[in-house]
Amino acid sequence: MSTKILVAYYSSTGNVHQLAQAVAAGAESTGAEVRLRKAHELAPQAAIESNPAWKAHIDATQDVPEATADDFVWADGYALGTPTRFGTPSAQLKQLIDTLGPQWATGQLANKAATAFVSASNAHGGNESTILTLHNVFAHWGAIVVPTGYTSDDPYSAGGNPYGIGYPAGQSAGEPLPDDVQAAARYQGSRVARVAELLGPLRG
Ligand SMILES: Cc1cc2nc3c(=O)[nH]c(=O)nc-3n(C[C@H](O)[C@H](O)[C@H](O)COP(=O)(O)O)c2cc1C
Repeated sequence: MSTKILVAYYSSTGNVHQLAQAVAAGAESTGAEVRLRKAHELAPQAAIESNPAWKAHIDATQDVPEATADDFVWADGYALGTPTRFGTPSAQLKQLIDTLGPQWATGQLANKAATAFVSASNAHGGNESTILTLHNVFAHWGAIVVPTGYTSDDPYSAGGNPYGIGYPAGQSAGEPLPDDVQAAARYQGSRVARVAELLGPLRG
């Protein structure tokens, strides 16, 4: 049976959505079965309508299913993605995480590989702190944290963040990702899938 990877993310304007697609493609390249899922939008419609890039992204991703707690139970490994919000994860991704109390309490989140990816506007605007905040969550779950480290050249060429891919997007609102960032995100997806597979005996 193939390894099952959940790529769950939130994105307002498309940067993290593209990272999520690349992470998913990387996981699939190992033979894993992948679910790409978005977090439920929480912002008021008026806020979304006031930002054309946000509205356009929401309209363009209607066909992406929303993540559920069952997706987390199903998966052997997780890749969670979010834009930085003042150096921390978005409320939308956190809300998804905060629905998982029953699954945590019954041990259904433990012993799975877990990795995090992010986008901020600025190189030093909170990419790393946001990823590390998600690593705290993974520790509580008893998941096995999978950083990229410097285990391939890909993280170096995408800015050298060893915690997980962080894309400093500048003013980009969903413009295509640079090739090196795409490659690094694909690498991160392949790495979490490989580690999830290796952890099979731990899950029994
Ligand atoms: C409320 C809010 C807070 C943000 N906080 C930060 C921040 O602390 N540092 C930063 O560099 N960018 C910050 N940003 C910018 C986003 O993280 C950045 O544009 C990201 O690429 C958006 O990803 P998305 O296109 O997937 O939504 C913030 C944006 C918003 C709307």
